[in-house]
Formats: sequence, C-alpha cells, structure tokens
Amino acid sequence: MPKLAIEDLHLRYGAVEVLKGIDAQFEEGSVVCLLGRSGSGKTTLLRSIAGLEEPYRGAIRIDGRPVYDAGAKVNLPPERRDLGFVFQSYALWPHKTVFENVAYGLRLRGQGKADITRRVQESLDGVGLGALGARYPSQLSGGQQQRVAIARALVYEPPVILLDEPLSNLDAKLREEARIWIRSLIKRRGITAVFVTHDQAEALAIADQVVLLDGGKLVQSGTPEDLYERPATLFASEFMGTNNTLSVGVAERRDGRALVDLGGHRLWGVDRADGGTPAGKGVIRLEAVRLAEGAGENRLPAEYETSIYLGNQFEHLFRCGGQTVRVLSDRRAGPGPHWLECPPDRLWVF
Ligand SMILES: Nc1ncnc2c1ncn2[C@@H]1O[C@H](COP(=O)(O)OP(=O)(O)OP(=O)(O)O)[C@@H](O)[C@H]1O
Ligand SMILES: [Mg+2]
Repeated sequence: MPKLAIEDLHLRYGAVEVLKGIDAQFEEGSVVCLLGRSGSGKTTLLRSIAGLEEPYRGAIRIDGRPVYDAGAKVNLPPERRDLGFVFQSYALWPHKTVFENVAYGLRLRGQGKADITRRVQESLDGVGLGALGARYPSQLSGGQQQRVAIARALVYEPPVILLDEPLSNLDAKLREEARIWIRSLIKRRGITAVFVTHDQAEALAIADQVVLLDGGKLVQSGTPEDLYERPATLFASEFMGTNNTLSVGVAERRDGRALVDLGGHRLWGVDRADGGTPAGKGVIRLEAVRLAEGAGENRLPAEYETSIYLGNQFEHLFRCGGQTVRVLSDRRAGPGPHWLECPPDRLWVF
C-alpha cells in the first residue's frame, strides 16, 4: 500500500480550476518531488495534502485512511493529519533562540520538559546544528536558518514531511550542498517526503520519484531516469535537461522509428508522437549530439558559429539547415566545415 495516495483531486479558487484531476501514489520512505513551472499548482497540491486548502472532488489517503474524501465527506484538519511542513518562507521567530524555535510546537502540545530537551537536541544534531541551540536566528547564516526550519518540522517525528521550495532562499552553492544533506537526512529517518521545486536539476538530484505538473495536471510520474531519459511528451522532454528542439519534416513513422528531413538531410530518430502536440519537432539533448569526423549515417553538415567555455566542457553553436544546433563537447571546435551526429536512439521525433 502506498504511504500517500492522491485520487482524482480537483480544486478551484473561485471559478478558476487549479488542480484538474491529479492521481499519484507515493511509496513509504521515498522522496517525491513535485516539479513544474510557476503557477502549475505545486504549492496548491502540497497545501491540499496538508489540509490547508480544500479540494472539491477526489481523495487523499495516508496509509490507506482518508484524510480527505469528497465522496465520504471526510476532511481532517491539518493537526490531525500527522504531517511536518516546511514553508517556502521559513519564518523563524527572531526573538527565540534556535532551541526555542524548535521546541515551541512541542511545548504547545504540552510535552514533558526532559522529553522536549532530548527531542530538540536530537533534531538539531540531525541537521548538524547541535552546538548552536543558544543562538538567535540573526546569528545564523541563511543555510543554517533553513536547517532550523527543517529541524522544527522533524522534531515531531512525522511519518510524512512536506517541503515547499525549502532551498529557494539559498545561493546556488549552498543549494547544491543542502540537497545532498536533506536527501540523506530523510532517507536515514525513513520518512516519506514531498518536496516542491521548479528546478529540474534539483528534482533529479533529490528525488526517488518525480511528479511533473503542468497547468494543474500531472504530465508524468516516474524515477528521475524515467523523466530524463524517457519523457512522455514534448512538454516533458523540453522541461528536463537542455535541448535542441528542431523543426523537422516527418517523412515516415514505422515500428517505433521515425525518419525526418532537416534542411534536405535525412535522420532517423525514435517515434515519440504523443498525440497531444502538433507533429514535426525533433528533440535532442545537447550532450547527445556528437562532433563527427565526416559524413555518415545520421550526420548533418554544420556551419560553425561560436563557442562558450563552461569550465568542464565547451558549448558550441552550429547552424544546420537554417536552424541552430547546440552541442556540448570536451573538444574545442573552430571555423570550418563540421559534421554533427545525432544518434538515432537519442533523437526524439514528436
Ligand atoms: N488564493 C488563491 N486565489 C486564487 N488563485 C490562486 C490562489 N493561490 C494560487 N492561485 C492560482 O493557482 C495557480 C497555482 O498556484 P500555485 O501557487 O499552486 O503554483 P506553484 O506551482 O506553486 O507556483 P510557484 O512555482 O510560482 O510557487 C496559479 O495560477 C495561481 O495564480
Ligand atoms: Mg509554489
């Protein structure tokens, strides 16, 4: 049985339909990322799970028991859902110490003093702040404040924790470090986590399961590898990674393969027609295009435009059949005729 199940969930704000029938299941102990661009409904879905928004149709079950079920008229208040919540603006109380920030909720619940001390200390130790309990938030770095917010949610030992863009206030380098320790902390504790982000690299790094949303609908749910290597739609393929999306003429589709024409040159690709998007797009990730030595199967003549140096590799820009093709390579390239190879299993034809 999944730890958390969402069934046909619909929610509207006034006349605006914001969640349009979401179905998803999350396994116990997994880190699930809700991924999508701004306005896709990530926060609304998370708040619905928490009980902070009320859908009008569908159900949400934890361990098989409904916390919300429109049909059965069940709608438990947030405090009875047994969830931890970390908000995007993590808002620590400035006049309370780190220890008291974490202890506050336990005190409200009337826990014993010794028990509170032990649990707060454990929680702070868990996020690497065991020695800083006596400080005030203003005496901490942004990254440390973020850890306090997470310790505060974990102190109740909730079986499920919901995090809404918890790393968005951190700079790029801290974010990268934080996603590793958050993931290992969650896994160590065996908690089920639902983590909202609009950053696909963050979702790939942190998740066991990625749920991609667009316009209040679920586009695809799967492992990070599924989403990156086997995107279900043109939208999913363009959302993940960095891509060349080329206009192509589709000459034929046969047995899962597709033959396309790009500026008079023929290329084989994988037939990915998704039924929803107009045909005639070829998508290939930047890292999948190869600089080739000469003409050959699935190769295109290309005119060199420019390069940028990225430190660990180069990004080259070429013109092919009137379109720009970007290529990542650890080799330099320069003016002159070139050939680009698009491996047929890496070129997706929609
Ligand atoms: N209280 C509200 N009243 C009316 N519309 C709302 C309300 N809250 C959110 N919306 C709308 O619902 C849609 C989904 O919003 P939501 O906050 O869930 O998006 P999101 O995916 O979390 O975006 P972001 O990445 O910007 O945080 C948006 O179009 C938003 O304008
Ligand atoms: Mg949001």
